[in-house]
Amino acid sequence: MTVKNCCITLLLIAGAGAAHAGTPGSLASGYAAEAARSVPGFTPSAERGQAFFSRRRDVSPTMSSCAACHSEQPTDEGRHVVTNKRIAPLSPVTNPDRFTSSAKVEKWFRRNCQEVVGRECVAAEKADFIQFVSKGITK
Ligand code: HEC
Repeated sequence: MTVKNCCITLLLIAGAGAAHAGTPGSLASGYAAEAARSVPGFTPSAERGQAFFSRRRDVSPTMSSCAACHSEQPTDEGRHVVTNKRIAPLSPVTNPDRFTSSAKVEKWFRRNCQEVVGRECVAAEKADFIQFVSKGITK
């Protein structure tokens, strides 16, 4: 690889990283804008997000709710119900790394929603969810 090609590659990688960067607020407003296209006037609700987070479902006997692994209080550390490994708090209030990468957030929404809800989550659910877990800092 020539020096020139190397540096262009690095710039592209840096650019891609920036495109995925975000804050809980910017990610939530992105999902809210997407939701508003099918539900005019949609605004994220922490109450709906909390209900979604704690709701027990019967898709998976072990992974019955988001709270099963992430703890009832998203500001607290969680524990994986299958592997028993600790999971750092989901809330950006106590864990500033959370909801700063849209790629990571999308990856885990996809996986965890499939496991718990049995389908992908829709934009409105994601916006409500972020609103709830980051209560106090998304404004
Ligand atoms: C079986 C355990 C388990 C369940 C149940 C679970 N999660 Fe997770 N979740 C994880 C693990 C493991 C990670 C990735 C490890 C980490 O980031 O600490 C994660 C990470 C995430 C992230 C990434 C956040 C970020 O910015 O780092 C989101 C969003 C998320 N989960 C949403 C959900 C939602 C929504 C539900 C319920 C529908 C749910 N999770 C249920 C285990 C679980």
